[in-house]
Amino acid sequence: MNILHVVGARPNFMKAAPVHHALKQYGGVYQVVVHTGQHYDFSMSEVFFRELGLPTPDVNLEVGSCSHAQQTSRIMERLEPVVLEHRPDLVLVYGDVNSTVAAALVCAKLQIRVGHVEAGLRSFDRTMPEELNRLLTDQISDLLFTPSEDGNHNLAREGVNPSRVHLVGNVMIDTLMCMLPMSETHILPGLPPRYALVTLHRPANVDDPDFLRSLLRVLAEISDELPVLFPVHPRTQQKIRELGAQPNISNPNLFFLEPSPYLEFLALQRRAVVVITDSGGIQEETTFLQVPCLTVRDNTERPITVSLGTNTLVGRNPERLRPALDQILAGKARQGSTLPLWDGQAAQRIARIVTGITPVSPA
Ligand code: UD1
Repeated sequence: MNILHVVGARPNFMKAAPVHHALKQYGGVYQVVVHTGQHYDFSMSEVFFRELGLPTPDVNLEVGSCSHAQQTSRIMERLEPVVLEHRPDLVLVYGDVNSTVAAALVCAKLQIRVGHVEAGLRSFDRTMPEELNRLLTDQISDLLFTPSEDGNHNLAREGVNPSRVHLVGNVMIDTLMCMLPMSETHILPGLPPRYALVTLHRPANVDDPDFLRSLLRVLAEISDELPVLFPVHPRTQQKIRELGAQPNISNPNLFFLEPSPYLEFLALQRRAVVVITDSGGIQEETTFLQVPCLTVRDNTERPITVSLGTNTLVGRNPERLRPALDQILAGKARQGSTLPLWDGQAAQRIARIVTGITPVSPA
């Protein structure tokens, strides 16, 4: 059986790794890894391959950064001949980035079976490019692997035949559980004993200069009380540079860092008093780690992290961060609970389903 994995952006790598590892255990499964090149900096890509034990990609499409239409179409154009050459029995795509939808569309048109890992999530906000990617990828994929039951409900509402849907659990948590012990040897030297950890990269938060400036000002204020560590995504770095030298956004306790490798970031999350983010995956990781998370978005495609986890949606309003943080510092953080099927076995379930070797009943 030939399986081709398509990955392209940072959050794909920790989702693909456990599936690739699980499939390696099956004799007769030949795997090919295609990197679209959507992310290309060492700190956004190669370091993750190394830490997660993913093989060097067999093919790199080197599409780089450009507009959404250009990026999606470049991936499609360059992936098609690769798929035609390898003729896989199944192509696995991950998450909700442009590489995900582009690969799914190429394969669906070639009538090659597609499996979508992390299917069914919905923010119900079509201004997010990721929401369009999720909707389209799920409609054209043959196998839909959902991380939680809300994904199954969303797909049912959209008329997806339930025979295509498999509730397998969360592959990101597989990786987290596997790597957590090792992350203890990747603690940043000189780490303060208490700190807030920040990541922000959504266009809605960083592309508008006024909004970004007000966010940075609030972070600088917070850092008077609690040191703030902010590993800065390249997109955000660029936007901060464009703001120029702004008064009121610098503070000796606001530390702008380079993007963190996976293990270092895991160690940072685990020790944080609070994580402030607009990432999807980090909402899940903090829930698993029982670390309070304040999400600077109006909605989330991962509502289970709010209903059962440690996540609070503060909305796109920097002024709401301060009171939410005060609650946490006063010991009134949301207490999370263990989530069903976030048990480190999701990739094994996927491997069994795609190879058809053992029937799976995750319940
Ligand atoms: C992409 C995903 C987003 C995901 C995020 C994780 C889409 C639509 N968006 O957003 O869902 O949460 O990745 O990081 O697929 N850049 C570099 N080096 C890199 C990669 C990017 O400098 O290795 C810079 C470029 O200036 C680029 C900008 O970052 O223009 C944005 O990169 P892009 O891949 O377009 O989107 P992300 O914001 O990273």
